[in-house]
Amino acid sequence: LSKAEALTMEESLDPDDWHAMRALGHRMVDDMMTYLETIRDRPVWKPIPDDVKASLEAPLPLGPQNPEQIYHEFLENVLPNPMGNIHPRFWGWVIGTGTPLGMLAEMLAAGMNPNVGGGDHVASYVEAQVLNWCKEMLGYPAEASGLLVSGGSMANLVGLTVARNTMAGFDVRQHGLLSSPARMMLYGSCETHSSVQKAIELLGLGSGAFRQLPVNSDYQIELSALEAAITEDRDSGHQPGCVVGNAGTTNTGAIDDLNLLADICEREGLWLHVDGAFGALAALSPELRPLLAGMERADSLAFDMHKWMYMPYEIGCALVRREKDHHRAFSLTPDYLAHAERGLAGGRHWFHEYGPQASRGFRALKAWMSIKEHGIEKYGRLIQQNVDQARYLADLVDASPDLERLAPVTLNIVCFRFKADHLDDTALNALNEELLIQLYERGIAVPSYTKLGDKYVLRVCITNHRSRSEDFELLVREVISTGKGLLGKYPGSA
Ligand SMILES: Cc1ncc(COP(=O)(O)O)c(C=O)c1O
Repeated sequence: LSKAEALTMEESLDPDDWHAMRALGHRMVDDMMTYLETIRDRPVWKPIPDDVKASLEAPLPLGPQNPEQIYHEFLENVLPNPMGNIHPRFWGWVIGTGTPLGMLAEMLAAGMNPNVGGGDHVASYVEAQVLNWCKEMLGYPAEASGLLVSGGSMANLVGLTVARNTMAGFDVRQHGLLSSPARMMLYGSCETHSSVQKAIELLGLGSGAFRQLPVNSDYQIELSALEAAITEDRDSGHQPGCVVGNAGTTNTGAIDDLNLLADICEREGLWLHVDGAFGALAALSPELRPLLAGMERADSLAFDMHKWMYMPYEIGCALVRREKDHHRAFSLTPDYLAHAERGLAGGRHWFHEYGPQASRGFRALKAWMSIKEHGIEKYGRLIQQNVDQARYLADLVDASPDLERLAPVTLNIVCFRFKADHLDDTALNALNEELLIQLYERGIAVPSYTKLGDKYVLRVCITNHRSRSEDFELLVREVISTGKGLLGKYPGSA
């Protein structure tokens, strides 16, 4: 082939038949709308059949397959085997549900497919708009800086990176921690999410630098223990640097006294980072907002929109009180990323200078569209609805002689277990673990689990806009009947 002939055979990834692709797209939208509309009719979860698992061990496709055929395979093997988190009776871990418009927004964002690392194009302005709305809805200062990220873990990493670099007292980016005159110490309660420890490890501080302090009976950090730890560390020549406050712990939804933490940080000259992955959003409900008093004083704040704002995965947000601190921690502008005065390389929003990623997706679009679709007041009502549902479930649990609640309900989390007076904790732990697996396998509901002290508990965390009170009534009925059915199987039973 001559060069000219070869060029006439240039390929692209666009379809040969746009008409067929368009028709397939319409079918996909129709199918997914029906799927979402009828989600309540299906089991929450079911085991993945072996043949489906086997089909996902196929060799690398070398040649093309027809999109229709690929979609057929999706309908056969992928769609029927979901996690279940979009179902009204999914309350496991802290997992959101998504929305139909959120799904469509993801399609539009992928269609436009901008890189929101920098440059003067509209996606950056959409992100800046969403960040401004986030500050406003949480009562955080308007001049603060922010970044949309993949989720709470990344938001914690971003906040704690800024904390480390700002508090170090020397240029960590240039010199690294080896030049540190004293070990930087961080403080939080023993209920702090594991992503905080991971962030501290990734930052090279070592998990030993994170003092995880005891909690009171409401699972809030013990302030006297915090103050004692700070003094002790100072006396031993360490450098106290940062307190991590919890606005909604994963286990029980506890909220630390954020105003008192802010007071301590001010007095001691420490950075206050608040992990509000889901709990920060309780500020959208006028009734719940007072619980978060002091959150607006944080130096950095992490939260998620794929949890309690019900947006499709992934979207979280890091806010940093002083833009300069944020920029200084991440900005790096080699020649190939320099800003211009005008044109595409101009503009004010170069988000890659505020986080670890150079290339960034258009996750802002689903937030922008969703917040406009519902208005922030409806989010507040839904969050309140989830909290009211948690209180309702707690009442049902408290009213049953077969159930025992093991933690206060501050927000949207209820921890309880099936109990029988003649069984000790070891037997109850085993029974409740089996009970939960049976709820999963029968597709009834998905709570998750945790341990409080040595007690295994069922943990219902409601970040679900589709749940109704009858779903919690069904859960309670099923837990009791399944528990009673298991009584004969465990040692210690009568
Ligand atoms: C309190 C808290 N912080 C951080 C995270 C981590 O967030 P993500 O899973 O979005 O990374 C979670 C997740 O459940 C959480 O509950």
